Amino acid sequence: MAYVNENHLKLPGNYLFAEIGKRVNLFKNDHPEAKIIKLGIGDVTRPLPAACIDAMHRAVDEMGREETFRGYPEYEGYDFLIQKIIEYDYLKRGIHIEADEVFVSDGAKSDTANIQELFGSDNIIAVTDPVYPVYVDSNAMAGRTGVYGADGKWSKVVYLPCTAENNFVPQLPDAKVDMIYLCFPNNPTGMTLTKAQLKKWVDYAKANKSVILFDSAYEAYIHEEDVPHSIFEVEGAREVAVEFRSFSKTAGFTGTRCAYTVIPKEVKVFAPDGEAQSLNRLWYRRQATKFNGVSYIVQRGAEAVYTEQGQKQIKATIGYYMENARIIRDGLKSIGIQVFGGVNAPYIWLKTPDGMDSWAFFDKLLSEANIVGTPGSGFGPSGRGYFRLTAFGGRESTEEAVERFKTRLKL
Ligand code: MLT
Repeated sequence: MAYVNENHLKLPGNYLFAEIGKRVNLFKNDHPEAKIIKLGIGDVTRPLPAACIDAMHRAVDEMGREETFRGYPEYEGYDFLIQKIIEYDYLKRGIHIEADEVFVSDGAKSDTANIQELFGSDNIIAVTDPVYPVYVDSNAMAGRTGVYGADGKWSKVVYLPCTAENNFVPQLPDAKVDMIYLCFPNNPTGMTLTKAQLKKWVDYAKANKSVILFDSAYEAYIHEEDVPHSIFEVEGAREVAVEFRSFSKTAGFTGTRCAYTVIPKEVKVFAPDGEAQSLNRLWYRRQATKFNGVSYIVQRGAEAVYTEQGQKQIKATIGYYMENARIIRDGLKSIGIQVFGGVNAPYIWLKTPDGMDSWAFFDKLLSEANIVGTPGSGFGPSGRGYFRLTAFGGRESTEEAVERFKTRLKL
């Protein structure tokens, strides 16, 4: 008899964005005439940069010729891409990363979900609350989170509330935690931390031999000074932090799939006898066993992000999305809705009117204005009474959505 991994049975409901998709499909069936505007899942809508398309065309041609054909890619990524990542994303900011500390992958989602495999099952995880659900669900699947309670919390997870009351800045936990998930600019709140605030986490991790899993997928959206672009800008972070980056939101690769994870060789996890193990080495071993790399064509496309044209093109697209963010922020504010984020991130986090339940507001917005957003409570208990909109829509539909908020939503 094949027995089930019972941890999977403990998971509540669907994956958040699958649940939203299901509800939207039900609504569409009942209202086929509705013109739905989707500002729910953070999926990009602008086409890939021309520089990436050209590079991928060339790579396709190379794959068709015997002398330039490539088979399995390197597990950790091609050196041509890794060198560009190091030079543009780190060296330009004065950060030294070595080639064998960068692992190219098919997504920050899969990397942030998979990395927990390298940690013992008794590790205590801490997450900001609200949080990108992948961190928690992947740990739940591994049996690390305890029992899911009626309060929407897992019994063994340490939640770090980030609400308007604390300006969305997570406080250090009272108890000792082992794995700390931080995502800044934050998904879903769109808020950021300063270097000094991040430093407290690095110091905590050093003092407690914890590891910080730092998701930096929205780094390209940082506009303000004094917002760190990488956790490695913080002194000491090389000893305790892993950083996840992605071309998805930076260059429109959500459907093309390319990302990377940086694991400095100093980062250690410990055997029961106290012996230190290199997380970098363990990840290489894991990836070589379970992952066959990102296709040559896609990595050539990602490399082109770092050309002069590529940089110009991604900046233009990011500017386009950030103008959407401004339109949403200003529009919602003008009708008295309290909004956060949307300045250094493509997400606008809003307080539901009259403290309405997040899912009730989801239904109201869908039925009255035919707009899809994401209920804050789907990101964790502290997201209750909040709601997320993405700036990744087209300009016209973003403007139309704001108009519908003003004219169709019965507030
Ligand atoms: C989101 O909407 O939170 C993101 O699109 C999810 C993701 O990047 O996987």
